[in-house]
Amino acid sequence: VMFSLIFLTGSSLSDRVHQDPANMYKNQGETAEITCSHSIDNYDQILWYKKTKSSQLQLLGYMFGTSKSREPGVTVTIGGNANKDKNCTLTINDLFMNSSVVYFCAARYHSATYH
Ligand SMILES: *[C@@H]1O[C@H](CO)[C@@H](O)[C@H](O)[C@H]1NC(C)=O
Ligand SMILES: *[C@@H]1O[C@H](CO)[C@@H](O)[C@H](O)[C@H]1NC(C)=O
Repeated sequence: VMFSLIFLTGSSLSDRVHQDPANMYKNQGETAEITCSHSIDNYDQILWYKKTKSSQLQLLGYMFGTSKSREPGVTVTIGGNANKDKNCTLTINDLFMNSSVVYFCAARYHSATYH
């Protein structure tokens, strides 16, 4: 199972969003953990997406501060903290061959007023 991990944001701040590791090789049945962090003042939300060859970008869930939210039907675990210089983690348990996709994280400012 191979993972290719890329980060994205909606702006030139993308060099201040870090996803680690960039690539990961795992055996079926194992667990994969990916970390995402950012160093952007006030940004407080990290979103996780996956992209398979055949499908569109799919939102898996997000961390808002320390509150997590997962999309219905998604089995990944999101943890950690989405604030500046903290780590947010995406854990994929019990890998299948079809877990081999590209995972993206994105950081943004989430306003309670304008979300
Ligand atoms: C975040 O995770 C990285 C490894 O991916 C680690 O080196 C670093 O110490 C962690 N930072 C915090 C604040 O936990
Ligand atoms: C991945 O494969 C497993 C085992 O074959 C299957 O149960 C699961 O529905 C598949 N998931 C996706 C997203 O195709």
